[in-house]
Amino acid sequence: MSGTPHSFGGDWTADKLERVANYLRAYATIMKKQQFRYAYIDAFAGTGYRTLRRDDEPGQLMFPELVEAESQRFLEGSARQALQVQPRFHKYIFIEKDENRFKELRELRTAFPEVARDIVLVNDEANSYLQDMCDNKNWERHRAVLFLDPYGMEVEWQTIEAIARTQAIDLWLLFPLGIAVNRLLRRDGNIDPAVRNALNRFFGAEDWYETFYQTTTRIGLFGPETQRHKVGDFDTIADYMIRRLRTVFAGVAENPLPLFNSRNNPLYLLCFAVGNPRGAKVAVKIAQDILKR
Ligand SMILES: C[S@@+](CC[C@H](N)C(=O)[O-])C[C@H]1O[C@@H](n2cnc3c(N)ncnc32)[C@H](O)[C@@H]1O
Repeated sequence: MSGTPHSFGGDWTADKLERVANYLRAYATIMKKQQFRYAYIDAFAGTGYRTLRRDDEPGQLMFPELVEAESQRFLEGSARQALQVQPRFHKYIFIEKDENRFKELRELRTAFPEVARDIVLVNDEANSYLQDMCDNKNWERHRAVLFLDPYGMEVEWQTIEAIARTQAIDLWLLFPLGIAVNRLLRRDGNIDPAVRNALNRFFGAEDWYETFYQTTTRIGLFGPETQRHKVGDFDTIADYMIRRLRTVFAGVAENPLPLFNSRNNPLYLLCFAVGNPRGAKVAVKIAQDILKR
């Protein structure tokens, strides 16, 4: 994607949010009939609005004509969309690290007075907050849908593991397929140690290297020569991530949705995983239907 990620996201952003909102509706409809207390958790919440302004030009709209042309709802971010889902959730937890965006997020309580006292606003780093919440909260009578909508590789594998361990959370995860991972996987396989470590931490494994690169040896002028080349394409990377999720979750949707930019490059992959073994089958079925194009 060219330009800054704060700029107007295009259709794929609306598509992503719509699908997650569809799941929230289905989820709340089913959970309403059960005994659990259930929350919506948005760990990369933003401001509540899909940001139209560029961060380097505060206050300046990139596409002012779109603000007029599109309905307000179209421009609402994940937090505002979730707050409008009916049936409602018992609790809404919004996490945002950036102080300025967090200030804007506070306005949600004024904008949604009927649920204001059930909105929890957290100005913190998502990974540490989530790991603590997952490991130290008693999940027996609690359930949640968690939306992880980062720009890039901000979600640590340790966080994914902690989420799965609760066996109480349904996860929607935006995997940075083209925007980060594929770009870091250089064609020649000479990956800087710092990048390698970052990918190891991100995937929680090291076998990605053998999966995405093939080594061939041939006899050259000065003896055997080893050559590496990239075999990992968008599909291989997506499959690998789904396999990684399957190692910790009870169920994972098998049709994650690639989100393409206007030049038809896949930026992200919208993935779904569920931690509770008893609810997994139904949850995955609903998510897979929602993910179908
Ligand atoms: C893609 S935006 C989220 C957009 C939002 N879901 C929406 O639909 O409007 C990512 C947000 O995550 C925040 N963020 C980035 N790293 C974070 C972290 N480690 N912990 C918490 N928030 C973070 C950014 O400040 C940004 O507001």
